[in-house]
Parts: sequence; structure tokens; C-alpha cells
Amino acid sequence: SMAEMGGYPHYMLKEIHEQGGVCRATIKGRVHDGKVDLSGELAMDEETIKGFKAIHIVACGTSYYASLIAERVFERWTDLDIKVDIASEYRYRDSKISPDTLVVFVSQSGETADTLAAQRKARESGAYSLAVTNVQGSTLARSCDDFLLLKAGPEIGVAATKTFMGQITSLYLLALYIAKIKGTLSDQKQKELTDEMIQLAYKIETILEREPSIEDLAWKFADYKNFLFLGRGMSFPVALEGALKLKEISYIHAEAYAAGEMKHGPIALIDPNVPVVVVAPKDSLYEKTLSNIQEAKARHAPIIAVGFDGDERLASDADHVLYVPSTLEEFSPFVTVVPLQLFAYHVAKKRGCEIDKPRNLAKSVTVE
Ligand code: G6P
Repeated sequence: SMAEMGGYPHYMLKEIHEQGGVCRATIKGRVHDGKVDLSGELAMDEETIKGFKAIHIVACGTSYYASLIAERVFERWTDLDIKVDIASEYRYRDSKISPDTLVVFVSQSGETADTLAAQRKARESGAYSLAVTNVQGSTLARSCDDFLLLKAGPEIGVAATKTFMGQITSLYLLALYIAKIKGTLSDQKQKELTDEMIQLAYKIETILEREPSIEDLAWKFADYKNFLFLGRGMSFPVALEGALKLKEISYIHAEAYAAGEMKHGPIALIDPNVPVVVVAPKDSLYEKTLSNIQEAKARHAPIIAVGFDGDERLASDADHVLYVPSTLEEFSPFVTVVPLQLFAYHVAKKRGCEIDKPRNLAKSVTVE
């Protein structure tokens, strides 16, 4: 009902708007004096953590894209060998899973069939399994050795939004906690990162205030048939998630590529009828991303960029820029994903789609 939706026309929009709160609630009580402390809730003790040599993160759908973002901070902040895989692949592969591997299963529902099957496989190998889930009593949380909850509250929209935010927040906390125990990040760096993490909720809320301009842009682009999403580094998984949101709810074909791979195929598709959405925060790969924008522009594609406030260079290269508050490189996905969720939502709304229950999709895929 309208009341349950808090006055929003769709659950998805309500849930997008809850994301600052989700980020805040997921961090709450878990950061003290510039350090992450999960000792009160995780079953794993310090000795167990010190013994981990590798980490595998396994998930499906949006949870997989959240895992790809986490991969990039685990490799930056910890000494763990990291592998991220799709559950339906992982369960049938021959990856070496040793007892000193931490296998993290990321699942909003905790009931996804392939993720549960992958967990059984990890269990047989003797690895330590951890569920990162939104549902405490879920099958996944009960079958893993350990679980970490995101505090997103129930998500009704089939297209995941606020749970994605909760997942990246939880996974970053986990990475910082492991880094603290393994001593791979200085106190000063931990403080810098946790201080910024606490600011993210406000930054997310600032973007939500800019919704009218995102809606305007979505209306201009609602009739295109194909989109290409590009990003590098931290922004590659954000491009994947932005394209997924658009195809799930608007039924527009949207493909995402690592920006550097554009030349190896998708550039052949680019013409004035294929808008290119480029996730381009001002980070260490920014110049490279700008050159990809220029390549797409030279082929007359309409360019929509997502960039940091104050980045005027981006405005001269792209046709449209969705600005977000700037943050540290590691945290850019927390802000860059939000305008892409809103863009997908408003395109779908303009097209008259069934936003909360898109055709053929289920909130939780409990069969293989
Ligand atoms: C379905 C949902 C997606 C979700 C995926 C994984 O495809 O429609 O929104 O990302 O399942 O679900 P999980 O509950 O395991 O995170």
C-alpha cells in the first residue's frame, strides 16, 4: 500500500532513499576510535583470522557485483589471496579451497539455491564459511560457520538497491577488521578510512536530493534501445550494477564493460543511437577513463558521465554529468551507484514498467 511505501510510488524508490540510513545502521556500533570491531558478533577469533591465507567471495546477481567491489579493497587492504566468483560457477569448478581459506557467501536473502550449494562444497573442503546476509534466520546464515548481518531491513523491490549498499558496507567493515587483526593497515590509515566511511551516509543523502535532475535526464534517454556502461577499477563493478538495474526494470538492453576492454569489441556497436554511461570519479584511473570517453565521443555516442562535484573537465567531455560528492578512491562505489539506480528507476517509470516486480525475475532464486 501507499502507507507501507511511505508515500513513494514504488518500493524500489523508497529503498533507494533508505540507503544513507542503511549505510549508517550497518556501521553503527562497529567502529570505535578509528578502528572496526566485529569481535562481539563474529564467531571467528583473532587466531583464526591470523591463519587465513586466502579469501573467496561467492554470490549471485547484485550480490556478486557487491563482491567484486569488495575484492578490490580486500586486495588493497589485506594480505589475503582473493578470488571472487559467481555461485553457479564456483560450485562446479575445481578451485583449491583449503582449510586456511575464508569463504564468504554474500546473499541478501540467504536462500539462493546456487549460493547454498556452493556453501556445501566449501564446507566439505574444510574451509571456514561466513555468510554476509540481510536475513539472520536464513538457511545460509544457519549453515555457515559464521555470519555478518547487513542492517538493511526488508527489501521488497525485486531489483536490489539498499541491500547492495548494506553489502558493500558490511564487506568493507570485514576487510578493515581483518586488516586490523593482521596488521596490514596502519592505525592512521584505518582512522582515515573509518572517518570517511562515517561520512558516506551524508554523501548518499546529498545525491538523493539531486533526484529531479536525474529524472530529467532519464526522461531524455528513456527511448533508446541499447546502452553501454563503462568503468575502470572500483567503477567497473559499478558499471555492471548500473547496467543490471537498467535491464532488469526497464527491459532496455544494457551492457557493461571494463572501460579498457571497449576497444576489444563493444566499440563496434557505438554510434549516435547507443548512449554510453561512464562511471568516472576522479581517482587514479581518471585520465584513462577520460580517454575512453573521448573515443566514444569521436563515434558520436551520447555520453552520460558520473563524476565528482567540481570536476569541470568531465562536463566539457561528456554531454551530461551526474555529479556526486567526492570521496576517497576506495569508497567511490557508495556514491557513484546511487545516480545509476535512480536513472534506471526513472527510465523504467517513464516507460510504464512494473518496477517492483519485473517480468521473469524473482526476488530470491531458490531453484537451480
Ligand atoms: C535475484 C534477485 C537479485 C539478487 C539475486 C541474488 O536475481 O532478483 O536482486 O541480487 O537474486 O540474491 P541474493 O538473495 O542471494 O542476494
